[in-house]
Amino acid sequence: MTKSVLILPGDGIGPEITAEAVKILNKLVETDGLDISMEEDLVGGAAYDVHGVPLADATMEKAHQADAVLLGAVGGYKWESLDISVRPEKGLLRLRKEMGLFANLRPAVLYPQLASASTLKPEIVAGLDILIVRELTGGIYFGQPRGIRVLDNGERQGYNTYVYSESEVKRIAHVAFQAAMKRNKKLTSVDKANVLEVTEMWREVVEEVAKEYPEVEVKHMYVDNAAMQLVLNPKQFDVMVTGNMFGDILSDEASMLTGSIGMLASASLDENNKGMYEPSHGSAPDIAGQNKANPLATILSAAMMLRYSLGREDLAVKIEEAISKVLDQGLRTGDIWSEGCTQVTCSEMGDAVVAAL
Ligand code: NAD
Ligand code: IPM
Ligand code: MN
Repeated sequence: MTKSVLILPGDGIGPEITAEAVKILNKLVETDGLDISMEEDLVGGAAYDVHGVPLADATMEKAHQADAVLLGAVGGYKWESLDISVRPEKGLLRLRKEMGLFANLRPAVLYPQLASASTLKPEIVAGLDILIVRELTGGIYFGQPRGIRVLDNGERQGYNTYVYSESEVKRIAHVAFQAAMKRNKKLTSVDKANVLEVTEMWREVVEEVAKEYPEVEVKHMYVDNAAMQLVLNPKQFDVMVTGNMFGDILSDEASMLTGSIGMLASASLDENNKGMYEPSHGSAPDIAGQNKANPLATILSAAMMLRYSLGREDLAVKIEEAISKVLDQGLRTGDIWSEGCTQVTCSEMGDAVVAAL
């Protein structure tokens, strides 16, 4: 049966990078019997400019109906002064929340060809393969109450609420343990249990869930130490599980171990592996419209979509291998360029992956 994919390019480099992923999907439709239909719609600032909201209800409905969503990125200077309730980022957060995409998988895997593209020494990152499991629909991103209020003394006070319920921690812990079981059976849960009650409970719940996975070696680490350990000795990690905000920050940090934020793909999944797929980076307004962006994180996200939502593991592997071939050829966008390599544009990189398929 034909599967439907909703494409949401978004803002900034979003349209450039999603166009390259769509090129690859179209090629697989032609040559490998990939049976999908693709429809495009607006999200983020692009949606705000047309509809006055960063995600129209009709687009939300299409996302519910689709078998998978592929998203570029949202946000940009143009919309920074808007009220926070209609900022581009809210469109993305609504998609995640209303689709129930609580499990965000961000694999930080180093292609060996890019060992010298990382800012860390090649021997520190060689062989790196970490899976960050980030809780995506709870924590301080969604906690109530939140806002900015005026105090009696006339000064403003901003406030957010960091809250997790036991069931939210349990389900993300299960995702992380199951992932660990398929990998090297090591799980590091990252929290701030020495200061924040919410993560004190997080730690307790992870310990309880751990009893169901006796083969997995579990470690708990404070987030500040985890940030340091990631650059000291990143290969000590196999699967890392953490809350929404810590996961956001640590995954950007981990991306640099793979050479660039332009390499970090992601899958955001619900209970049934229905998902939205997006690079972990943003709309990169500083390079938008210049055909300079690295499309590989988005192309790798499309590969994750084939793997988790479209039942085509074979084609996911095919894309990952094609990327490896292109890197063997020495082709690099600016963000992963190093001495002796050939610098290519965003669209040239997409074309090269298509050719290597
Ligand atoms: P960013 O990730 O957009 O950019 C950070 C830096 O990384 C920039 O120098 C950028 O040029 C570079 N970069 C990012 N992606 C790249 C790529 N594919 N190839 C080459 N270089 C790349 O983060 P930011 O500057 O903090 O945020 C810009 C906007 O993006 C903001 O509006 C932010 O809210 C939004 N954002 C959106 C998402 C998303 O849609 N998932 C994620 C992060 C940030
Ligand atoms: C990401 C982004 C988003 C987040 C923003 C744009 C809402 O930084 O996907 O990592 O913080 O989750
Ligand atoms: Mn982020």
